[in-house]
Amino acid sequence: MQDLIDRAAHDIAAARRAVALTGAGISTESGIPPFRGPGGLWEKIDPMEVAHIDAFRRDPEKVWNLLIRGMHEVLVKSRPNMAHRGLAALEDMGRLQTVITQNVDGLHQQAGSRDVIEFHGSFAWQRCTVCERRCRTAELDLAVIPPRCECGGIFRPDCVFFGEMIPPAHLARSQQLAAGCQVMLVVGTSATVQPAAMLPLLARDAGARVIEINPEPTPLTGTVSDYLIPGPAARVVDALAAAVSALQETA
Ligand code: APR
Repeated sequence: MQDLIDRAAHDIAAARRAVALTGAGISTESGIPPFRGPGGLWEKIDPMEVAHIDAFRRDPEKVWNLLIRGMHEVLVKSRPNMAHRGLAALEDMGRLQTVITQNVDGLHQQAGSRDVIEFHGSFAWQRCTVCERRCRTAELDLAVIPPRCECGGIFRPDCVFFGEMIPPAHLARSQQLAAGCQVMLVVGTSATVQPAAMLPLLARDAGARVIEINPEPTPLTGTVSDYLIPGPAARVVDALAAAVSALQETA
């Protein structure tokens, strides 16, 4: 494993621009379950029943009770792990430009990452379905479900539900970054949900080196990615940041 980490450190050190694409796997070591695979949320509840915009419109109370309230309880307790901190350290070293995350947990920013694209929105904010007023999730009174805005509208997380579009500015900038980088780190994603899953392809087609960090192979492995570092993100990204820092010191 250390050989692969050293190889990735050299690739990052040699790159003018490197970006990271992250998924739920980077936050599992912070106590947030993934969506798919063993212990995945979608193994327990049907995503089309609770995470599709039509399901929310049909029965917001059900979606609040079955999904949103539970996510809130888990997210308020979660803290960044060494993988989030490692990516923030690479940014501080000037070796990582941007984190494009599919996660709505805000842990990259809590770890100190400054340039973060929240591709699927953020759970830190709620939005009124009528007047669009936004308020911090932490300030929301959850005594009444579904919580309502002063205008009478129902609040919903400022995230992207299935059946909704990715915010156009986020999509455009992410595609630009993917097509303009020399290295893309793909950390903790099953790479099964579009359009996020096509960003590594864009990077590869633009000549970038695509490096996966995941205990398990994904549909990208051996087809789109150059290599997979098969380990848990906290340990691998932490070691990678240390290896890049050591290279910088000897450069
Ligand atoms: N370190 C690195 N990777 C891990 C770890 C870990 N400790 N634990 C699990 N993984 C990997 C799994 O092997 C899997 O490939 O993380 C991946 C998690 O995949 P998903 O649960 O499918 O999460 P993600 O790819 O982020 O899902 C994409 O789907 O449900 C929607 O909107 C939701 O953003 C989400 C999108």
